Amino acid sequence: MLLAVENLSVNYGAIKALRDVSFAIDEGEIVAVVGHNGAGKSTLLRTISGLLKPVHGAILWKDTNIAGKSAEQVVRLGISQAPEGRQIFAESSVYENIEIGAYVRHDNEEIQKDIQRYLERFPILKERKNQKAGLMSGGEQQMLAIVRALMSRPKLLLLDEPSLGLSPVIIKEVYKTISEIRKAGTTVLLVEQNAKKALDVSDRAYVLANGEIVLSGLSAELAQNQEVKKAYLGG
Ligand SMILES: Nc1ncnc2c1ncn2[C@@H]1O[C@H](COP(=O)(O)OP(=O)(O)OP(=O)(O)O)[C@@H](O)[C@H]1O
Ligand SMILES: [Mg+2]
Repeated sequence: MLLAVENLSVNYGAIKALRDVSFAIDEGEIVAVVGHNGAGKSTLLRTISGLLKPVHGAILWKDTNIAGKSAEQVVRLGISQAPEGRQIFAESSVYENIEIGAYVRHDNEEIQKDIQRYLERFPILKERKNQKAGLMSGGEQQMLAIVRALMSRPKLLLLDEPSLGLSPVIIKEVYKTISEIRKAGTTVLLVEQNAKKALDVSDRAYVLANGEIVLSGLSAELAQNQEVKKAYLGG
């Protein structure tokens, strides 16, 4: 077990955004959490990332409870996030955006090698490396956000709605990248409203509704589940 979330509850004042959420992810898996707007998906990732504090529950990382640790500590432990809406630094260059992902590392030579490797893998980022990141398209910014998150060399990558606002062709490209990331040895926890893509790429999935996990199972099986089809796959 790489990560286990146990009875996690998170509130925003009086709003109960997560209620007793429990799930686990093994090393090497791609696990998806799907759910409609407001289900609590981003809250879940932001809490794992140390940006929100749970009211109760545990986040076990290799058997240590990391709930309540700071965002920086969480990155140092090996968990990083590409947030919803990318959150790139629009006024900074593409290169600077990538470099900042390595802020917890000190192995400068290796950092430079990683940057070069990602620039070769994503030629569009290489072409634009000295341009302001805010000038890139949504799909390019999504790739940049993922690369920035990978620069901390995470063991677990958290992806919040990587397909949001992108065209089908670009979504395909992003999802191909997610498969590659897992093949390269990084475990992935993905949250999506786009249940079809998320169930396609993942091994297992959880359905989150109104802050609670209501269904879970193998993604291939959930994709055939009548309830899931009706509520999340458009029939
Ligand atoms: N900063 C906040 N203050 C108050 N309520 C919030 C805040 N952020 C989220 N919420 C509420 O918490 C609930 C869960 O929100 P969250 O953003 O986690 O949902 P989500 O599943 O990521 O939705 P989406 O698919 O729209 O991104 C919603 O009811 C939302 O209105
Ligand atoms: Mg969200």
